[in-house]
Amino acid sequence: MATKHKELIMKELIENEITNQFIDYQEDSSIVPLYFSGDVLEMLSQLPDDSIDCCMTSPPYWGQRQYSSGGIGLEDSFEDFIEHLLNVTLEVQRVLKDTGSFWLNMGDTYKKKSLVGIPWRIAIAMMDRQKWTLRNNVIWNKHKGGLDSSKDRLRTIHENIFHFVKKPKGYYYNDEAIRTKARKTKVKNGAVVSATGVTGVRYKRQIELSTSLNDNEKDKALKALNEVLAKIQLGEVSDFRMIIRNQQRTTHSDSAKVSGRAKELVEKGFYFLFYNPKGTLPTDVWDIIPEDTQKREKHFAPFPKDLCRIPILATCPENGIVLDPFCGTGTAMTVAYELGRKSIGIDIANDYLEIAKKRINGQQTLGIF
Ligand SMILES: C[S@@+](CC[C@H](N)C(=O)[O-])C[C@H]1O[C@@H](n2cnc3c(N)ncnc32)[C@H](O)[C@@H]1O
Repeated sequence: MATKHKELIMKELIENEITNQFIDYQEDSSIVPLYFSGDVLEMLSQLPDDSIDCCMTSPPYWGQRQYSSGGIGLEDSFEDFIEHLLNVTLEVQRVLKDTGSFWLNMGDTYKKKSLVGIPWRIAIAMMDRQKWTLRNNVIWNKHKGGLDSSKDRLRTIHENIFHFVKKPKGYYYNDEAIRTKARKTKVKNGAVVSATGVTGVRYKRQIELSTSLNDNEKDKALKALNEVLAKIQLGEVSDFRMIIRNQQRTTHSDSAKVSGRAKELVEKGFYFLFYNPKGTLPTDVWDIIPEDTQKREKHFAPFPKDLCRIPILATCPENGIVLDPFCGTGTAMTVAYELGRKSIGIDIANDYLEIAKKRINGQQTLGIF
């Protein structure tokens, strides 16, 4: 009995220690990552509600890899594995701010020749049971896979990265931070040239020679084209395409009942497609080669750093905190640090956390608690 009481007091002291460490870190000006060594649920339960801006993580695969300290992923059934992970996603939901984002990277597994569908089973349970909103399913195209001796199915080369938010509206998202820079408009031989070389000369000729537009429609189309070119010159629009009746191929339905653009073609004879002057958003397919594990001493499945850039840039404000509850060798923390954000890493394996600490070049981390 006395031993049990002593154990409880010790547990409480450790818990307070972790909570206090976190609160001090929140208030500190340093962005050097803070690491917690221990079981994910035990550690998460000691972080305050609504305190994290962005969670990016890659939990262990079910039944495929064994890390140095065991942990999640060793369950006999995939149902148990999913339930364990759902306990973690619920805790992530609690510690995440309402403006926060949760990026969950998951790979799938085969069992008795059948793909189990683990990433989607978890994503659907998170939406149905925990009321997460799923904003994107990113396909991570890894370009190269591990050794695969199968002769009766294709090689697996992708993983999923789900972007979840707590509320469908009001979450932090800095789209400008991740847009690819738009090319600049130029003036060449007195003519305005758009970012991709559109001058309007070809469109003008097509309008003038068109047998599908009447004179009134031609006048309106030329006037509208000149207005767009003026906007290009002023830098209000960086690029555009003009779709003219029976000239350009369209990507929408031809039915004016279902497509607003088809309706414009029927009624006016033309419409414009404008490009965002701030650049284009990345797509939901990311071509990123996996990290070269040869260079690492121990770990099996580190993130490539590039995988963490878009999530952190877009969904963690500059003064925010990134969390990786299965941080392994601390890739998400390293990227957060390089991008000027604070970060918290949790892992059950102390030796991985030691590697993580060494990755912050020339900086002392706050140690492992
Ligand atoms: C896929 S790895 C993460 C790799 C990491 N993204 C990186 O860049 O190195 C999964 C990690 O989960 C850790 N882990 C497994 N079960 C755990 C548990 N119950 N609590 C905390 N960490 C756990 C493993 O030690 C492993 O480092």
